[in-house]
Amino acid sequence: MNKKIQKLDETVVNRIAAGEIVVRPCAAIKELVENSLDAGSHTIQIHVKQGGLKSIEIRDDGCGISKVDLPLVCERFATSKLKTFDDLYHLNTYGFRGEALASLSYAGHVKIISKIAESQCAYVCEYEDGKIRPSTSIKPCAGTNGTLIIIEDLFYNNPIRLKMMKSSSEEYTRMVDCVMKMALRNTHVSFTLKRDTQIEPDVYTNGKDTTILQNMKMLYGADMVKDMYETTINENDTPYQFQCKACFTGTQYSNSSKASSSSMTFILFINGRLVDCQPLKKAIQQMYAVLINKQTSPFVYLDLIMDPTTLDVNIHPSKNEVRFLHADPIIVAIVQAIEHIIVAKSAKQTTTTTQLTFHMTPTSMTLIPPTPKEPIETDPKSKKISSDSTNSNAKKPFGTNLDPSRTVRTSSRDQKLDKHRYHNSSISVPKKIPQSTSFVSPLASIKFPRQIKLTSIELLRQSIDEECDADLLNIIRNFVYVGTIDGQSSLIQHDTQLYLIHTRHLSQELFYQLCLYHFGNMGTISLEPEPPSIEDLIRLETNNEEVIEYVIDLLKERREMLEDYFSVRLSSTDPLRLETLPILLDTYVPNLDYLPQYLLRLSTEINWNDEHECFRTFADEISKFYSYRMQIYSEEDGDSEEKQHWAIEHLLYHAFKTMLVPSKHLRQAFVKLTEVQQLYKVFERC
Ligand SMILES: Nc1ncnc2c1ncn2[C@@H]1O[C@H](COP(=O)(O)OP(=O)(O)OP(=O)(O)O)[C@@H](O)[C@H]1O
Ligand SMILES: [Mg+2]
Repeated sequence: MNKKIQKLDETVVNRIAAGEIVVRPCAAIKELVENSLDAGSHTIQIHVKQGGLKSIEIRDDGCGISKVDLPLVCERFATSKLKTFDDLYHLNTYGFRGEALASLSYAGHVKIISKIAESQCAYVCEYEDGKIRPSTSIKPCAGTNGTLIIIEDLFYNNPIRLKMMKSSSEEYTRMVDCVMKMALRNTHVSFTLKRDTQIEPDVYTNGKDTTILQNMKMLYGADMVKDMYETTINENDTPYQFQCKACFTGTQYSNSSKASSSSMTFILFINGRLVDCQPLKKAIQQMYAVLINKQTSPFVYLDLIMDPTTLDVNIHPSKNEVRFLHADPIIVAIVQAIEHIIVAKSAKQTTTTTQLTFHMTPTSMTLIPPTPKEPIETDPKSKKISSDSTNSNAKKPFGTNLDPSRTVRTSSRDQKLDKHRYHNSSISVPKKIPQSTSFVSPLASIKFPRQIKLTSIELLRQSIDEECDADLLNIIRNFVYVGTIDGQSSLIQHDTQLYLIHTRHLSQELFYQLCLYHFGNMGTISLEPEPPSIEDLIRLETNNEEVIEYVIDLLKERREMLEDYFSVRLSSTDPLRLETLPILLDTYVPNLDYLPQYLLRLSTEINWNDEHECFRTFADEISKFYSYRMQIYSEEDGDSEEKQHWAIEHLLYHAFKTMLVPSKHLRQAFVKLTEVQQLYKVFERC
């Protein structure tokens, strides 16, 4: 390549830049609405034709643009909102780059009619490529205070972009979504969005200083707010001070028009700006997935206010993305607060209904009497799967048969295996398990001191094997641990593929299975020196006296069974205290911050009336409580993050590898990132 370097023509530069800001009609709407809001408008009326591709008209009653500013408005980097770079950290406007109108004038035909209050009349002006359109000029005209901006023939000069727009109705749907979100937060502004020749608006709010919930009702329908909770999370005593208003649906809400929890509606404003934050969205999605078993489409609205000096809004010209300091602790604090409220509220709702059935059939739960009691093994070590216990059946691990040219880091993998005992793992499976082969969980081979012969438990154990996903099992038995990203996810390599694994999901399924296999044979974790009182624990979740009393009575009534089968020992004297919790995995102790929530959920989520369902739901709840949650470390903690990472790798992932029987539900916890062949292509290019 020996071509001469030359500076691009300004129009070409600006057109390229415009493509980044006005990606599609909906992005134009967002910029125009932001301008109207920055102008202090109380009414914003939008009318679009053909999904915005033919025309977009937006009228507001804001401060207007004066005649002297009109020549400049569409010029690139011309703004009334920012003077110095430092102003970026004290912004109180949406706009600051002075690029939006300029971009629109490079992507379509722009006409502005505007009147400021001090002026006798309005002025009209047309623009092209950042300037007043040749052979036109600013002219006086009739008009009310405020601004009307008309964009016509968007992408007329960019046929490829125009082709990329799938259909005008899809573009319009995106606009409706965007305008609804902006209207939701700006309760003091009346929004109207209409299309083509339609008389009735698709989006309407009255702007009469309503609340978010009232606006939500107007915009999303009354059904949405039926199971909606509102809270304000204040973190003022931490180095990452923030305030977050949150509105979110609870466990009863289900949106039949949406298919799964992955279709969650997530609306996030940070310092008033509608933005995207994938880590926060994912964390909330996972929280719902764990809390609610049935398929729902939660709705979450967050309005996060933080110190502007910790926020970087200048990531991309579209201003859709922001970065902020202390993201991890902020995400954890928000997710925990929402989770606590959902659990406490659902407890309140379910308690009233459960209580009724309970009073009607006080002894309706029939349990098959346990086998004569033999001493329960309390030494956790005795329950470890012995590496020799299944050795007689052990096949050569699949990983050792791999063609070295199809693996990554073959030599360091060996080192890792030696270092971390994985070579001791005696559990192995053939690469492909034939569909017909019934697979028996490695846990089934453990010999416990007490033989539990309950049919319900047998059936539950059987369904673990039946639901096993052969492909996931192959991955789980033969992966190599690559590294811990954080408490939420780790990287593993299997064969030539690299996967991102959601640790909590896997740990939850593991603890569910351990609870069923160790049923009646669990060791105990003593809560010392003084076992906590159940009342004090429940009070951390709710102050509802009725609920507290209900939970205490329920636990007292089930005391014997809880201890006998699940090693949950409660004191025999008042006040009722929690003395022990079960050991499910070696030295693993669950995060006790979630103990109150777990106790509360025992009263709402367990079906105490049916033996099979009782054990299944109990194992499910205990697995949620024991599932691994991301921890936040203070700076003084120093090495504790390191210790946690060590435990994730050597305790949890080792247990996944040797014991977990993954069901198909775990597929979403495995995200394939790349494979070696792809990486080779990249490296070859380098
Ligand atoms: N609806 C409006 N009412 C009053 N003034 C407006 C309106 N729209 C635009 N302006 C004026 O035009 C200027 C340019 O708008 P533009 O959207 O291009 O840039 P910006 O809002 O300053 O920054 P950004 O590119 O980040 O949006 C604004 O700074 C503002 O002074
Ligand atoms: Mg703007």
